[in-house]
Amino acid sequence: MAVVSMRILSPSAFITILVWLLLTEPFGSFAQNDVDCLRAIRSSLEDPLGYLGSWDFSNSSRTSICKFIGIECWHEDDNNILNIRLPDMGLKGGFPQGIAGCRSLTGLDLSRNSITGNIPYNVSKLIGFVTSLDLSSNQLSGEIPVDLANCSFLNVLRLDSNQLTGQIPLQLSQLSRLKTFSVANNRLSGQVPTFANANITAESYANNPGLCGGPLSPCSGRSKANHN
Ligand SMILES: *[C@@H]1O[C@H](CO)[C@@H](O)[C@H](O)[C@H]1NC(C)=O
Ligand SMILES: *[C@@H]1O[C@H](CO)[C@@H](O)[C@H](O)[C@H]1NC(C)=O
Ligand SMILES: *[C@@H]1O[C@H](CO)[C@@H](O)[C@H](O)[C@H]1NC(C)=O
Ligand SMILES: *[C@@H]1O[C@H](CO)[C@@H](O)[C@H](O)[C@H]1NC(C)=O
Repeated sequence: MAVVSMRILSPSAFITILVWLLLTEPFGSFAQNDVDCLRAIRSSLEDPLGYLGSWDFSNSSRTSICKFIGIECWHEDDNNILNIRLPDMGLKGGFPQGIAGCRSLTGLDLSRNSITGNIPYNVSKLIGFVTSLDLSSNQLSGEIPVDLANCSFLNVLRLDSNQLTGQIPLQLSQLSRLKTFSVANNRLSGQVPTFANANITAESYANNPGLCGGPLSPCSGRSKANHN
């Protein structure tokens, strides 16, 4: 097929098409990623209160998604999404994997909803550039994925008031920009990470069954052995 169409096209027409593809494709696909990202988020979350029902994808204007509730774009004249803030909207379902399509995302707030299941083990592949991640007050369970340590731009990480279990990955201490961190009100145990540049107080760890170290009481040999 490709050979046939190359023969039919004159060289100048071929070059024109090539240049047109080179000029339009990167922008076209960037824009489409963010639209597809929001479509995927909407279809993966249950929305009993109808907030996301107001996301109207029929508007052909490129930038119409920037006016959607909870969506903030980088600039008025393109549609690269900067922040997604959907707190307290009664949303249900798992962490929306389709968010990977929002490639320029720097902030995600899904706090105070009913998000269930695990934080994806490949979270840094999904939201690797976020500076702020707030998943507090949901129903997330399972362990905190070690891959969160690869979200190296994080300033704010709030996972408090969920049902997270196991140990906090000590690799999170690699998050050199972290200023705010909370895992209070979960079911975590074991040693807490030490953060070089953040002043994390005991409050950030409150109401967990067995955390120790850092601003908490030192880990005894026995509790360390339990987690080795
Ligand atoms: C489509 O979106 C643009 C940009 O947000 C807005 O100005 C325009 O009014 C919208 N058109 C309709 C028909 O909703
Ligand atoms: C992340 O993991 C999920 C579940 O295994 C998988 O479906 C998805 O393709 C992965 N995403 C990326 C970007 O690696
Ligand atoms: C971070 O990403 C690298 C490359 O994908 C991977 O090899 C490594 O295991 C990840 N680190 C953590 C702590 O998950
Ligand atoms: C950390 O914060 C606590 C409470 O705000 C304060 O008392 C303490 O001096 C701070 N420590 C450092 C090293 O900044």
